[in-house]
This record gives sequence, C-alpha cells and structure tokens, in this order.
Amino acid sequence: MNGHEEWTDAVIAKIRQKMEWVSEKNREKIPYRTDGNGDYDDRSDASGQWRMDDGLNWWTNGFWGGIMWLLYQDTGEQRYADIARVSERKLEQCFADFYGLHHDVGFMFVPTAVADYKLTGNPDSRRIALHAATLLAGRFNPVGKFIRAWNDLEEDTRGWAIIDCMFNLSLLYWASEESKDPRFRQIAMLHADTVRKNFVRPDGSVCHIVEFDPETGEMVKSHGGQGCGEGSAWTRGQGWALYGFMISYIHTGRQEYLDTAKRVADYCLANIPESGIIPVDFRQPTEPAYEDSCGACVIAGGLLELARHLPEEQRGRYEDAAVKILRAIADARADFGRGCDAIVQNCSAAYHAPEHHFTMSYADYYFIEAMYKVKGVGRLLW
Ligand code: GLY
Repeated sequence: MNGHEEWTDAVIAKIRQKMEWVSEKNREKIPYRTDGNGDYDDRSDASGQWRMDDGLNWWTNGFWGGIMWLLYQDTGEQRYADIARVSERKLEQCFADFYGLHHDVGFMFVPTAVADYKLTGNPDSRRIALHAATLLAGRFNPVGKFIRAWNDLEEDTRGWAIIDCMFNLSLLYWASEESKDPRFRQIAMLHADTVRKNFVRPDGSVCHIVEFDPETGEMVKSHGGQGCGEGSAWTRGQGWALYGFMISYIHTGRQEYLDTAKRVADYCLANIPESGIIPVDFRQPTEPAYEDSCGACVIAGGLLELARHLPEEQRGRYEDAAVKILRAIADARADFGRGCDAIVQNCSAAYHAPEHHFTMSYADYYFIEAMYKVKGVGRLLW
C-alpha cells in the first residue's frame, strides 16, 4: 500500500523471523493461547473432542493451520504446508464422532482444508472441505432462514444465530463454486439476508446473538453475547460483520452486501479511539479499559478488504483506519521476542469473562493476514 512500504516490510520481516521458530516449536500442536510461561497450549487432544469448549472441536482450531498457509504463500517454504497439514489431519477426526460439531466448521476447515485445496489442489482436502460444508448446510433452519449456531438444549439454542457465522459462509460459497451445486450458496445468501435484516442496526452497529423461534422463524430477541450487554457493540462482532459481508460480496457480487459492510465500517470508523487501541465493546464504560487486540485485527482485515473493492477515491479513509489499528498493534501490543509464542497481546474473549488481556492464536492469524493485505501478498483464503 502506497506510503507504508518501509513500515510494512519491517513488520513482515519480524513476523517471518518469529514464526520460523514458533512454528517448529509447536509443529504437532493446535494452539489456542499461551500459558503463564509464554508457551502455546494444545487443543488437538482427541479425548476432549466431544466438548465444544476445549478439545478437537474447539472453534479456533483452524487458525494455526491458517497461519502456516499464510506463511507458505509468503515464503514458498514447504515446511509450512507440512505443519498446516498436521492440523488438517487431526481435524478430520471430528467427523467420526460428529457430536459436538457446530457452525464454526467454517472457521475450522476454510483456513485448513479449503486453503490446502486452493493452494495445492490436494484432492483429500477437497473431500474434507465438502464434508464440512455439507454439515454446515445441514444446520440451516428453512423457516427462519438462518444457520443454527450451537447445539445446547439446556439453554435452548435451537433458534440462535450469531454474527460470527458470517465468516463460516465462506465454506458454503466455496462448496458451490467447487461442486457447481447452488444449494450451498443459496443457504449462505439466505442466512446473510437474515443477518442484514435482523442483526445490523440503523447506525451500522451489530448485535452478537439473535434468537428466533425455531418453529415459526419469528425473531424473539437479541442477546448481548460476548459484548457488554444487549444493544451494545462487541468490537470483534463488528469485525465479523464487516469482513463477513465483504466475503459474501466477493462471492456473489451483490451490492447490498458491499453496502452493509460499508455501513458497519462507517460505524467502526466513528468509534475507533484516537490511540487506535480497540476496546472489547465500542459501548463499554470507560473503566475498566478492557481491550481486544483480536477484534482490532479482524476489523483491520475487513477495512482493507472493503477498501480493495471500492473505487480509488473512496478507499483512503478505510485504508488509513486499518493502518492506524495495525500500527497500534505492531508498536504497542505485539511481542516479536522469544519470551512468548504468540505475537498479538491483550486479547479478550468476552467483556464479562473473568480474564482479559491474554493471547489468542486467531489474533495472530488476523494480524499476519492483515499485514500481508497491506503488502499485497497472497490470495484470499476465505
Ligand atoms: N465467538 C467467537 C469469538 O470469540 O469471536
């Protein structure tokens, strides 16, 4: 991107240097976060795969492989493909048990199996990704026209859809493009239309969770979810919506998806603090000043993707905002040293979670991906 070349090259050089040893150290793992010693954990223990909250089904388990494919695209080094395939092989075991799988098969299998197939043509990856897409399509509620997020019945989630799913739609678009069967794309578009009507507020902010009646499809209410409360604006959710609608636009060419992404982006731009440090929720109280560097990186990626699809004269403000966020991360919230396996610091899973400001592997994924967007390296995996 013009005007930022020196800074971009310097940050990417630090990413390459760090990931060279981090990837070797953790090559058999699927990491989610670092512990108190700065070492990555491992979510690939198959004994936990029945549970959504840690084992092999954990929703972020595609991102480590995704980071490896980003580096493979950049460096051309085969060892990154080899490490990515460790994740892909392990994740395939989720299909055998089926129980515990959820709508986040998109997040799990796009950066692993779809990426592998797109970049190398591996036929096994095509089979794995089509299998995952078929499971995702099976979660569609045809009366409410939404994809069901989770499986819980104790807290009845049969009618729950969440904003994060805008990213999972990528798997369905890919499946239609690959199989020539329009049903996957049709489901993705029906879900995206439901989200446009029920999640995106007139000011461009979005809800995290919307509950529908699973029998009639009527909207029941919205929930605050990982944000500060009902009616709030969880920042990572703004990112899922902005970038997610861009993914729908890229795969369908439908103008309303681009317009929606722009509306969400404009809301973000109006609320990004001067420091470029992103809070957990744009509507949270000033204190405690909880941050979410992961939401920051997702928003930055969405802004860059939006800018790429706008006429040149409209791009500047979105590119500038993305670079401001990424500079804040690189200057003040990144660890490029050897004391911690993760780069991006100060992430928060949710506003009301007991712990804040830790690392999350998917923050690293979106940071590295966004830096490569600024540099213009690699093809879009989503
Ligand atoms: N619920 C997915 C996320 O934490 O962004």
